[in-house]
Amino acid sequence: MKEYPALFSPCRIGKKTAPNRFVAQPMEGNDSDNGSVSNMEIEKYIQLVKGDWGVIIIEAISVSSAALARKNQLILNIDTFNSFKNLVTEMKKKAPDTIILFQITHSGRRSGKKFSQPTALYNAEEGEHLLETEEIEEIKNNFIETALLAEKAGADGIDFKMCHGYFGCEILRPANIRSDRWGGSFENRTRLLNESITEIRTKLKDKSFILGSRISYYEGIRGGCGTLNEDELIEDLKQMDLLILLMESIGMDYVNISAGIPGVTSEITRPTPPSKLFYLHQFRYAKRAKSLVSKMKVIGSAYSILKEEGLDLAEENILDLNTDFIGYGRQILSDPLFPKKITDGEKVDYCTACSGCSKLLASQKYVGCVVTNKYYRDLLKEK
Ligand SMILES: Cc1cc2nc3c(=O)[nH]c(=O)nc-3n(C[C@H](O)[C@H](O)[C@H](O)COP(=O)(O)O)c2cc1C
Repeated sequence: MKEYPALFSPCRIGKKTAPNRFVAQPMEGNDSDNGSVSNMEIEKYIQLVKGDWGVIIIEAISVSSAALARKNQLILNIDTFNSFKNLVTEMKKKAPDTIILFQITHSGRRSGKKFSQPTALYNAEEGEHLLETEEIEEIKNNFIETALLAEKAGADGIDFKMCHGYFGCEILRPANIRSDRWGGSFENRTRLLNESITEIRTKLKDKSFILGSRISYYEGIRGGCGTLNEDELIEDLKQMDLLILLMESIGMDYVNISAGIPGVTSEITRPTPPSKLFYLHQFRYAKRAKSLVSKMKVIGSAYSILKEEGLDLAEENILDLNTDFIGYGRQILSDPLFPKKITDGEKVDYCTACSGCSKLLASQKYVGCVVTNKYYRDLLKEK
């Protein structure tokens, strides 16, 4: 049986220690109970806990009930708080050392028109509301309040979502040419993250609470993250490098490196068999971020497409200091017990990157693996 000593070695993240380098990336299940954590979700996360993942990032949780990308998306507020507390309690009972992070987000322009309010930061299109300066301040406060609720619920930290085209990502783009304090200069475009994190830090009771963020290093759109100005399409990562340096300078504990926008430049985010080699871009972005930081930890993404081969590459990337943690998305659906099965030498159900889970999400159905789970296979077929 092959061993992976680096992958299974513990690693500091802020003031806490993850038992190994396997990260269960946030994966929206669209299966909440009116925003609260449902029994279905508890079961899903208990499975992950049993799988011995070092870090589990709970899927995109909305900071506002008016900014949902998914009909049944999780929302963390006073009304739903107890269900989140219960989730963490149940997970910690089984695995007290696993690091549990809440990914907090606002869906902005990507909010669903049928059940939510799409809000634009610039170039509002029909049906989208162009946000006023004060409304953005309000959204910042929502992020801060939600982070503090996450602390109260017992989470080990938050993942401040700045990736994949959602609000936090849109505000970062060079294309965000707002003329107020939320757009234009790099300072204005990073203000949301900078001010929120600084304020959250001062208000936290638990000084070891982890503060991290997920970013798209390159989005693959004109004026997107990873370009230099509003008209540019070609990748130029200088501003993203500055963002990494800023994150470290304000004491953030990790950056979770992703790329692309699902549904727009999906191949970059989640490579499929014909676009397998996009994983190399993801490796390159993580390595680049890692080369810029000294204390802040780096989580790499997009390993699912690599199946068995991914384990050797993950081990190599940790040993070569190209990343600190290895993030798996779709693999957590095809086999939530993956890390434990590696330790036990059991057969793993590797993700086939069939895109079934993405199709379920795009059609606003409950999300799971359509290859290993008949329930989701049948759900995908339903009209
Ligand atoms: C169904 C589905 C749901 C996802 N939900 C989230 C999410 O809530 N937050 C997030 O940052 N990324 C989300 N992603 C992206 C994944 O976390 C991950 O970055 C992507 O699948 C690539 O990694 P992989 O190749 O290991 O699957 C989702 C992807 C899929 C397919």
